Amino acid sequence: MYKAVEVLPGQGTWWVGVNDRETDLFEGLWTLPRGVAYNAYLLVGAKTAAIDTVKGGGEYEAKLREVLGDRPLDYLVVNHMEPDHAGVVRRLRRLYPSLTLIGNAKTVPMLKGYHGIEDGVVEVKDGEKLDIGGHVLSFHTIPMVHWPESMVTFDETTGTLFSNDAFGGYGAHEGGLFDDERPRERWEGEMLRYYATIVARYSGSVQAALRKLGGLSIKHIYPAHGTLFRKDPGLVVSLYDRWSKQDADGGAVVVYGSMYGHTRRMAEAVCRGLSTGPHRVSDVRLHDASRSDRSQVLADIWASRGLVLLSCTYNTALYPPMASLCEKLANSMLKRRVLGLAGSYSWSGGALAALKKFADAVKLDAVAPEVEVFAAPTDADLERCADLGSSVADGISEFKG
Ligand code: FEO
Repeated sequence: MYKAVEVLPGQGTWWVGVNDRETDLFEGLWTLPRGVAYNAYLLVGAKTAAIDTVKGGGEYEAKLREVLGDRPLDYLVVNHMEPDHAGVVRRLRRLYPSLTLIGNAKTVPMLKGYHGIEDGVVEVKDGEKLDIGGHVLSFHTIPMVHWPESMVTFDETTGTLFSNDAFGGYGAHEGGLFDDERPRERWEGEMLRYYATIVARYSGSVQAALRKLGGLSIKHIYPAHGTLFRKDPGLVVSLYDRWSKQDADGGAVVVYGSMYGHTRRMAEAVCRGLSTGPHRVSDVRLHDASRSDRSQVLADIWASRGLVLLSCTYNTALYPPMASLCEKLANSMLKRRVLGLAGSYSWSGGALAALKKFADAVKLDAVAPEVEVFAAPTDADLERCADLGSSVADGISEFKG
């Protein structure tokens, strides 16, 4: 976006964020095929207050100056210290030496650690308010959505929730900033991918945050990544509620790890079993653990009730791409899934046993049959894989929660 945008016309509320189309991996891990936006905001009243900053770059500071002109920036609210939002705090303090930083008790040591800043910091308590003349702000901690110091800022004057990572999504802005300026499918998929990769582990904290913020009269939700919600903020609250309760849809994801194609054939048989029979699943997604985009695999798993994992054995253990997927899913505390498992081996077992350990770790019971195949699958083996797919389909149909 080439300039600051007044996101609540006539109400002194500006978007001063930046698009990042150059970082290829968010956190060095997650692909950004359409970039990412760091949304930052500026409130102008009797005093001026910035809400969060960006990862870097002079474009942000130019946008601040574009709105402020010669006025000083009085406050910077630091909702979250992760450098994609607090990257230029020190530079901002140099630019505006009288700038007062606002954070909570957990923000303060991080400001020192990241930026060496100890002076001019006001520590606010949960629910505390700040009147800047024209905007009354209240601060609400939402620990572990996404870090311990994470908080949101609510502008009581305009009903705007500046929610930082919460309700954020991947994808740089492509002209439209708002939910009514982009089709839902363009922002929802990127929001789910952000949730599955960044927020999912903290779903319990998301539930706590939703309960806590439920009493606010929210008219707009402006997060620190992705689309701004002014048309239907209730929709994104309901999506977050669903995802954090792991209320998945009825589809199924099949992920395989295969070196020579035998386990892939088993996975294809599972897919056929899922797609046929009395409880057939219409939305089946097949992923190669080695080649599919990992963030999309995670997003698909988060949206689907059924999950089948198939792995060849590699040096007596799980095939490495499958091992790293299982590690991430366990770290994200996956639950409420209908799980199917299958392994293959040539000279030692290992894969199926490791998949069962994963199932134990996430406290999920795998449906029968668990399939283990020696060398290349026979026709009978492939039929057992199809039976596994049918069992998972039955399990999805009967799922009670
Ligand atoms: Fe977008 Fe947790 O930082």
